[in-house]
Amino acid sequence: MIEAKHISKWFGPVLAVNDVSLTVERGDVLGFLGPNGAGKSTTMRMITGFLRLSGGTVSVGGHDIEADPIAAKAMIGYLPENAPAYPEMTVTGFLRFGAEIRGLRGRAATEAVERAIETCFLDRVRHQAIDTLSKGYKHRTCFAQAILHDPPVLILDEPTDGLDPNQKHEVRQLIREMGRTKAIIVSTHILEEVEALCSRVTIIDRGSLVFNGSPAELKARGSSGDVICRVQAVAAGELVQALTGLEGAAAPEVVADTDGAVTLRIAARGRQAGLAGRVRKVLIGKGWDFDELHTEEARLDEVFREITLPDTVQEGQA
Ligand SMILES: Nc1ncnc2c1ncn2[C@@H]1O[C@H](COP(=O)(O)OP(=O)(O)OP(=O)(O)O)[C@@H](O)[C@H]1O
Ligand SMILES: [Mg+2]
Repeated sequence: MIEAKHISKWFGPVLAVNDVSLTVERGDVLGFLGPNGAGKSTTMRMITGFLRLSGGTVSVGGHDIEADPIAAKAMIGYLPENAPAYPEMTVTGFLRFGAEIRGLRGRAATEAVERAIETCFLDRVRHQAIDTLSKGYKHRTCFAQAILHDPPVLILDEPTDGLDPNQKHEVRQLIREMGRTKAIIVSTHILEEVEALCSRVTIIDRGSLVFNGSPAELKARGSSGDVICRVQAVAAGELVQALTGLEGAAAPEVVADTDGAVTLRIAARGRQAGLAGRVRKVLIGKGWDFDELHTEEARLDEVFREITLPDTVQEGQA
């Protein structure tokens, strides 16, 4: 549904987006991440036809965004950064205007507006001027505008920015639901959102693509592979001895020894998979009871920092 090939954007001498390619199919929610100024909004503006491309091509639903912009844009719902809207219009007036621009008339327009108002919980403020809305409601009005025409493609630039926790939850649920049938790109700085929402992740840094994969792959990239286990009713010394010298592992380290249970961390050497399985085998072989055994997961924000920071800082952290 969305295919961006080798797209670039120059602003004068500044290369804001450098040879970025991405594809999104129906049923995909692509999380688009990157530090401030990385080029996320610029990329989204090019995909929606709001900015001209300096290089590369974009096609939406098979329509080239520059050769056939009207057909391509008809398929897109776009929530721009900072949710711009006409301040003097009322919520209903703005949505009605949006529906008419999208070619909806009469009853179809009324129905589209009512549906969007309901979906985005705007009923309470429907007759209020946009100018007088709180930030969250203004944002939701703009979101409603993006989904008015039930488009198969959604480009959402920080859709939960400025929303309260309840609204964030609602909007994520809405995006996830719509993601079953639509092709969606969501930019965000909230990494938990990626786990809650996205089937795929793309990260850009200083205009260039630095990661493309699933949220699980992203996490795996930062995972140390260390195994944590908690074993009942065995002396720490005995446990350490039994788990010393496993293939691909350093000597176990006791993390806690309380209430008759010992927690160990077994650091992985290199990136060999399957350490947890080898630990399990030993524990089962000994007939020991364990209520915890897992490979430690990296936190997404740590992985993000690793991927997007300059090399020198990465070294310092390691
Ligand atoms: N119209 C413009 N003219 C000149 N430079 C621009 C313009 N728009 C964006 N830029 C520059 O392009 C780069 C990328 O900006 P962009 O808004 O795409 O970043 P972003 O990833 O969306 O960041 P944020 O997370 O802060 O929203 C920045 O260096 C920005 O200053
Ligand atoms: Mg931005």
